Amino acid sequence: MEEELQRLRAEAEAALAGISHPDGLEPFRVEYLGRKGRFTTLMRGLGQAPADQRPRLGKLANEIKATLESAFAARREELAGGPAAAQRLDPSLPGRRYPAGRLHPVTQVMAEVCAIFVGMGFSVAEGPDVETDFYNFEALNIPPHHPARAMHDTFYVDAGCLLRTHTSPMQIRAMEQAQPPLRIIAPGKVYRCDSDITHTPMFNQVEGFLVDRKVSFADLKGVLSVFIARMFDAATPIRFRPSFFPFTEPSAEVDIGCVICGGKGCRVCKQTGWLEILGAGLIDPEVFAKVGYDPEEYSGFAFGLGIERIAMLRYGINDIRLFYENDLRFLRQF
Ligand code: DAH
Repeated sequence: MEEELQRLRAEAEAALAGISHPDGLEPFRVEYLGRKGRFTTLMRGLGQAPADQRPRLGKLANEIKATLESAFAARREELAGGPAAAQRLDPSLPGRRYPAGRLHPVTQVMAEVCAIFVGMGFSVAEGPDVETDFYNFEALNIPPHHPARAMHDTFYVDAGCLLRTHTSPMQIRAMEQAQPPLRIIAPGKVYRCDSDITHTPMFNQVEGFLVDRKVSFADLKGVLSVFIARMFDAATPIRFRPSFFPFTEPSAEVDIGCVICGGKGCRVCKQTGWLEILGAGLIDPEVFAKVGYDPEEYSGFAFGLGIERIAMLRYGINDIRLFYENDLRFLRQF
């Protein structure tokens, strides 16, 4: 009997200590101290104890009950005023707001660029960031030791394996897998060992290409004009400047009228009134030969543009590195 009383006391004390919210008090009271509670039930058994022990046991039981009752009262005080009181639910409080993230400006511009070309019937293809020398250079008419390789500050993984320096290898991968007609854009990350206010070691490009019968430079001009009008402003002037890329012939660089000064000449356009925004051209027959297309039957155009560059012009950002410093004061503006 005495043992049972002590055990009940220990259990009750542990249970009381475990109550962290006022809602837990009443069930405790009912279970241990109530009229039908465990304490009362135990006391009823007192009558069966040997007569000579009853007075001592009765006294002990009363002491334990008094101790528990005052511990209970103390705990109730504590919970009403202590820190646990703050946990009580106040339904009149406004709901908690979760901080909402947003898309990175580069992701937003990438999505816009892709949407414009998808609207013109292009489909989207993605390829590996780790490329082989064959797809990144060789098949694009850039043989080993060709001076054009010097334009790409390549990160090599090992001999014959590298981080792609442009998205152009996707031309080869797509043409290997399908026959013309082909209308594809290939967005993705590219890598060059370079870093200053206009270069980051990783940046994003979108490659576009179209192959069919009788595709001409006029088709290229038409598609790019629509793109530029939608991306910037319908009135944005465009100019095609002759250039060189090993995988296109003829090749051009495309400029738009400076969006900062409106063509008058400023620091951003280096007083020329023009900004270069992409490279393009008609796909070189050498490239078709690499994928087994007949250059007599098919022709095509290709272009490649840098997403960060477009985002910088769009938002008037003067340092490309801002995109990748994860400064929330910058990122929250988009
Ligand atoms: N791959 C070139 C670069 O990253 C860009 C480019 C130029 C892509 C001309 C093309 C093109 O498809 O026709 O510098």
